[in-house]
Amino acid sequence: MANEIRMENEENVIEVRDLCKTYITNKRQLNVLRNVSFDIKSGDMVGVMGPSGSGKSTLLYSVSGMDRATAGEVRFCGRDITKLSDSKMAEIRLDEMGFIFQQMYMLKNLTVFDNVILPACQSKKLHETMKETKARGEELMRKFGIIETADNDINEVSGGQLQRACIARSMINKPRIIFADEPTGALNRSSSDEVMKELVKINNEGATIMLVTHDAKVAAKCSRVLYIVDGNIKGEFELGKYTEEDDIKTRERHLNNWLMEMGW
Ligand SMILES: Nc1ncnc2c1ncn2[C@@H]1O[C@H](COP(=O)(O)OP(=O)(O)O)[C@@H](O)[C@H]1O
Ligand SMILES: [Mg+2]
Repeated sequence: MANEIRMENEENVIEVRDLCKTYITNKRQLNVLRNVSFDIKSGDMVGVMGPSGSGKSTLLYSVSGMDRATAGEVRFCGRDITKLSDSKMAEIRLDEMGFIFQQMYMLKNLTVFDNVILPACQSKKLHETMKETKARGEELMRKFGIIETADNDINEVSGGQLQRACIARSMINKPRIIFADEPTGALNRSSSDEVMKELVKINNEGATIMLVTHDAKVAAKCSRVLYIVDGNIKGEFELGKYTEEDDIKTRERHLNNWLMEMGW
């Protein structure tokens, strides 16, 4: 398209430059993020690890525009989003970003299915009929093996099923990136594995993912891991893309050795 603004680097979905976030509480200044810079390429699956309180969630919130950065730039598909109005930012989050959290924020008075398609009903992005939206919702729920829970209330399904519904919901508006903050944090090992299997699957199909986790087994399935200490990236570990055929034990061993070097 002739009027399209050219991106600085078309491959990078996210470009973070000197990002700072400072909280002021009781007149004390807390510098939670201190000049953080990194990129996320299209199709990448970036894990973020680090000690509790190191700023991982704050980083995810600041990069995704859920929270305002104090200084620095976040370019999303080439455009600095740090100075956008709240309403414009909310529109970008709804249309172009997917979110998965540890606590599965779903509306209690809606079925699982209605929760999954809700963002599409709120968005003007896709110009489709309700019938088309519902068909895509069903397709996503089938893809993640939860179609039989479609008409259930959200308190009638397991944590693992609910989190897979959250993945479906995060994808309903065909986002450019999915942000996940401890998506397996509230799950047991087998549910966590199920959820990771789906995230790996969508990543292998092209989805771009930024995933905060304190679980090395989860991070071992990411293509790259950033290690945050005191609001700074202390190191970065390249694992390469994971596929179900790869030996996960070897990846976990390499990651764990590096995490030990990082002081994990
Ligand atoms: N809204 C807030 N107001 C003040 N301090 C905050 C706020 N949110 C987070 N913090 C502080 O910022 C630091 C980093 O928090 P967080 O990003 O949640 O860490 P992590 O996700 O790595 O555990 C912590 O010291 C936390 O107490
Ligand atoms: Mg956190």
